[in-house]
Amino acid sequence: MGLAIAHQLARRGTAVLVLSRRRSEAAGFVAAGMLAPHAEGLQGSLLELGQQSLQRIPAWVAQIEADGGSSCGLRPCGIVVPFPTIAERDRYPTAAWGQPLDRAALEREAPGIGPRWQAGLLFEQDGQIDNRRRLMRALERACVALGVAFQEGSEVLELQQNGRGALAGVRLRTAEGDERQLPARRAVLTGGAWSARLLPQLPVFPVKGQMLSLQGPRQALRRVIFGPGTYLVPRHDGLLVVGATSEPEAGFADGLTPFGQRQLQDGIAALLPQASQWPPMERWWGFRPCTPDQAPLLGPSPIEGLWLATGHHRNGVLLAAITAELLGVALDPEGGSVEQDLPAGIRSCLLEAFRWDRFMAPSVSPPGASPQSARQSGTVNAAPVQPPG
Ligand code: GLY
Repeated sequence: MGLAIAHQLARRGTAVLVLSRRRSEAAGFVAAGMLAPHAEGLQGSLLELGQQSLQRIPAWVAQIEADGGSSCGLRPCGIVVPFPTIAERDRYPTAAWGQPLDRAALEREAPGIGPRWQAGLLFEQDGQIDNRRRLMRALERACVALGVAFQEGSEVLELQQNGRGALAGVRLRTAEGDERQLPARRAVLTGGAWSARLLPQLPVFPVKGQMLSLQGPRQALRRVIFGPGTYLVPRHDGLLVVGATSEPEAGFADGLTPFGQRQLQDGIAALLPQASQWPPMERWWGFRPCTPDQAPLLGPSPIEGLWLATGHHRNGVLLAAITAELLGVALDPEGGSVEQDLPAGIRSCLLEAFRWDRFMAPSVSPPGASPQSARQSGTVNAAPVQPPG
């Protein structure tokens, strides 16, 4: 989020400094890079936000590639969501946006899929981007090319306010270990799962995810397979990214666990049995920034001058394009317009729907169904995630 917003602001002519404690912690380096508002079964305002972002991804990627000179690894490959029964398929919240598949069609779209799956939905409009190897680097290069400054290794310890309660600056610890003040009247908090450490009013908490990758034969799988609790994301070179556990109870506990890794292995065996024989490449984990309704916090914060772009939970890579546009325009309404800017009315509706304080004032809750992912934890009707404890 930080890089995506810095990039849009720089394109609009704003000077930007990115403060980052440890870049490898960013969810953008951990995620599988699915662009999956339909496969995730999003609902209500979150589906709308996801669809708006999905539409903007090709132009957004083209900007990043033109500005930074390296590929983002966008792959509009479609996503298959398998189900044990036709009835479960037809109940899926986004079924109306997908092509229904019977077993024969499922085998054509996902050759080698396990025998448990008798039906599916194909979402051709969904896809993936190679976030770990390409997108994050491409974004960094685009930012650098546009003059964005970086202080990598600088941890913001405190937000500082003036006598009127507006943002005055931050106190930070530099990579060298010195503490100092940095004056700032405008900033965007993109602290992911750690956001509430700086602003405790924010209802953001970590949901740990463990991942792994396997090296498959090139072309073995073309489409992403998005099963309950496990998904398989084939990169163009045959690397298969496998995700992900969903562990709100783990808090910020670092590390892989035998249980988490076994869950992924079981998911692979059920979805694509042949992949259980493919050589493992990497294993890693990270922390999704979750909120009580699993939708992001976007727009103004309780501190004047401080803006929010956090809480994107399972959909950060997908939502980066729309988030960067919304925040870019909000922070710099006079800046040069970016191709494809959303009409102002839609922008303000979206910012209103994802206000940080929507949980306290029911009258400003997003309209429609609770905006949440449908397949998290392997159930079609997952309850909203609650903060642990
Ligand atoms: N976007 C999938 C996940 O968070 O696991």
